[in-house]
Amino acid sequence: MGFIAKLVYEQAGIVIREHKEAMTRGRLARRVKALGLGSVSEYCAFLKTPAAADEIPELINAVTTNHTSFYRERHHFDHLRKEVLPRLVQERSGRRGRIRIWCSAASSGEEPYSIAAVSRDVLGSRSDIDFKILATDIDTDVLVKAEAAVYPSDQFERLPSDIRPLLKLEPHGGRGEVRISDDLRRMIAFKRLNLIERWPMSGPFDVIFCRNVFIYFDTQTKASILDRFVGLLAPGAFLYLGHSESLPQPHPQLRLIGRTIYERLP
Ligand SMILES: C[S@@+](CC[C@H](N)C(=O)[O-])C[C@H]1O[C@@H](n2cnc3c(N)ncnc32)[C@H](O)[C@@H]1O
Repeated sequence: MGFIAKLVYEQAGIVIREHKEAMTRGRLARRVKALGLGSVSEYCAFLKTPAAADEIPELINAVTTNHTSFYRERHHFDHLRKEVLPRLVQERSGRRGRIRIWCSAASSGEEPYSIAAVSRDVLGSRSDIDFKILATDIDTDVLVKAEAAVYPSDQFERLPSDIRPLLKLEPHGGRGEVRISDDLRRMIAFKRLNLIERWPMSGPFDVIFCRNVFIYFDTQTKASILDRFVGLLAPGAFLYLGHSESLPQPHPQLRLIGRTIYERLP
């Protein structure tokens, strides 16, 4: 397991802690089977061969934890909808001003569609603002699900009635599934992006969501990603982290202004 843990750390920054090794073995079982191998040891031996280059993304897809849900940690969506977007719209309307949001660990799409839903609510039908959400993740399997935008309808049953309609769900296929409307889907560009590699975007972003992924990284990786977020955030822009996440150390250009909400200082 040491070999796999080292490879996953080098490739994705994810630290596989000892108490998670059994779970990781379980997740690797599907790769072992897909390749017609007999055990995780055989899988490790395969990963050491030159033929394994194409297997690395599959390995990363297998070990990532993708748990997510619509409007998870609702306070961030309320802050975006009530505090951030109305001000940005007021500032930028009329001059075809831009608003840019980056959802940097988007998983299977629930988080970026929740962002799109509250954004559409604030933007309405106005066309005088160039609004875009970039949604990225390292895991190509979840990105396929996110682009499909099809979810079991029972996922929505317990959502609060004031925000559920904002998702504009449409019936899909008659098998207890629904689809997010084209209108919200068009607001988002999904791309594969590894947070520990080079990023092709130059910013500036008005909002960055980076929630429930820092928990898998060590302090050094978090500090380096945070510095790069700060470089891409416009002055006065916001960074949302997950509920159990905090800055590895205070950052001179980030001020905590709410529950895991940071403002980029000028
Ligand atoms: C637990 S999910 C969180 C999803 C969503 N942000 C939320 O809070 O509901 C963590 C996501 O981070 C992604 N991830 C892990 N390491 C990554 C990396 N190095 N670069 C980009 N995404 C990564 C995983 O693939 C997974 O989809």
